[in-house]
Amino acid sequence: MRVAIIGSGPGGFYAAEALLKRTEVAAEVDLFDRLPTPYGLVRGGVAPDHQKIKSVTRVFAGTAARPTFRFLGNVRLGTDLTVEDLLRHYHQVVYATGNEADRRLGIPGEGITRCTPATVFVGWYNGHPDYRAARFDFSVERVAVVGNGNVAVDVARILLRTPAELTRTDMAAHAVEALRQSRVREVFLLGRRGPAQAAFTPGELEELGKLEEADPVVDPADLEGLDATDANVALLREFTARPQRPGAKKIHFRFLRSPTEVLAGEDGGVAGLLLERNRLEARPDGTVAARGTGEIERLEVGMVLPAVGYAADPIPGVPHDEKRRVIANEDGRVVDPVTRRVIPDQYVVGWARTGPQGLIGEHKKGSGQVVAHMVADAAGLTARQLPPREAIDELLRQRGVRPVTFSDWSRLDQVEVERGARRGAPRDKIVDVQAMLELLGS
Ligand SMILES: Cc1cc2nc3c(=O)[nH]c(=O)nc-3n(C[C@H](O)[C@H](O)[C@H](O)COP(=O)(O)OP(=O)(O)OC[C@H]3O[C@@H](n4cnc5c(N)ncnc54)[C@H](O)[C@@H]3O)c2cc1C
Ligand SMILES: NC(=O)c1ccc[n+]([C@@H]2O[C@H](COP(=O)([O-])OP(=O)(O)OC[C@H]3O[C@@H](n4cnc5c(N)ncnc54)[C@H](OP(=O)(O)O)[C@@H]3O)[C@@H](O)[C@H]2O)c1
Repeated sequence: MRVAIIGSGPGGFYAAEALLKRTEVAAEVDLFDRLPTPYGLVRGGVAPDHQKIKSVTRVFAGTAARPTFRFLGNVRLGTDLTVEDLLRHYHQVVYATGNEADRRLGIPGEGITRCTPATVFVGWYNGHPDYRAARFDFSVERVAVVGNGNVAVDVARILLRTPAELTRTDMAAHAVEALRQSRVREVFLLGRRGPAQAAFTPGELEELGKLEEADPVVDPADLEGLDATDANVALLREFTARPQRPGAKKIHFRFLRSPTEVLAGEDGGVAGLLLERNRLEARPDGTVAARGTGEIERLEVGMVLPAVGYAADPIPGVPHDEKRRVIANEDGRVVDPVTRRVIPDQYVVGWARTGPQGLIGEHKKGSGQVVAHMVADAAGLTARQLPPREAIDELLRQRGVRPVTFSDWSRLDQVEVERGARRGAPRDKIVDVQAMLELLGS
């Protein structure tokens, strides 16, 4: 059975491994990615000061070493290849394209200079080729980060790390340079609900209390009456008891506030943020919602980075669930978004299936479950004769596309690691697709 997987993040790689391990089917896997580099958000999302988690790429490299596996980077579904092409050349197709777009606040002023979604900031500091041309003005002293998830925490932490700390990471060189000049001294982390509803995890929160040059600032009133056994609440309470170091930079935690308008200054860029105070309202289903009180306050900040979640944009020819902003599916089987009828031979894993929740390791189980469906559905499939495996390479060549193989990637990897060693970093990323292709030669 020949299978195409589109997207080389954790969802895609874990699906490849699960499939190649199965004994009931002898599968060949071609794993495509639109970038010449593999690993999705492990390379382009996970924070540069969190190197340990990136060691999961060794597991993925182990999958890539299997003889029945091929990586074809620099190939985008929707432009370089169509769904019809895939269905002609493969028995089954798995979409593992993640959630690459961002969710918006939908408030006035959101598009002005220095109000930039965290997706862009994260992609820029991680050297994702899509964002290498983004520009950030760190001459401002105060920044608002909207959201109480782990991405918001990553962003706040990166803004306040010292240049020495950042240089030693695999942060893109352009970002290390820009942040070296940063005058940011205060970051406001804005939650629309309370500390007990925050989505960030205790390990990530704890790290904000251990920064070399920045102290967390929490209003004890925000914690009154809250369950002290909640790990986030306990940590925030511990933060309130700490003395502030004189001259330290600050991370201010502000809860129960929703942005209502981004205000422009004379230069047309962000000069402030209007916030509405919220109260919590228990819903009949047991969840807790934020309700606006009508009370508005102004926060003086020169930059706003909304970190309120990711979403999937539609890919031409792939059934899209408009409401959930994922690929339309029932438990990983792709369905028609209107009739909900299963579309044979097409599957989806990772964030493209579930939306943007969950950690890297969780995809192992999720992708494994979808592979179980694929195997269950496979009976009789291989009776369909396919063109030779290399025919897809020929098709791409005819279209002027130069696929990047896993051994090509290994060469890029080696160059990046060598460049990184010069600055004491694990790697110094190449951020331009053209430069990668030139380095590899034709
Ligand atoms: C900023 C950030 C930090 C995170 N940090 C951590 C962390 O520290 N620890 C942790 O456990 N989890 C972390 N996560 C969560 C983790 O990254 C995700 O759970 C995981 O990466 C999702 O895997 P995926 O394969 O679904 O998508 P992705 O990792 O996004 O992979 C999708 C892949 O599909 C490719 N692609 C997209 N469209 C196309 C197309 N049309 N054609 C071809 N290829 C395409 C992309 O180039 C990409 O390589 C973080 C997430 C974010 C956003
Ligand atoms: N170190 C790590 O392990 C790490 C790092 C980064 C990301 N990740 C993972 O990646 C996933 C995605 O992270 P994420 O931070 O993007 O998403 P997330 O965990 O869903 O957090 C999104 C945050 O945005 C808030 N929000 C949403 N819409 C809003 C609005 N209109 N106004 C104000 N606030 C709004 C949410 O508040 P409500 O709760 O009120 O909706 C929530 O606090 C998570 O599973 C996360 O754990 C992990």
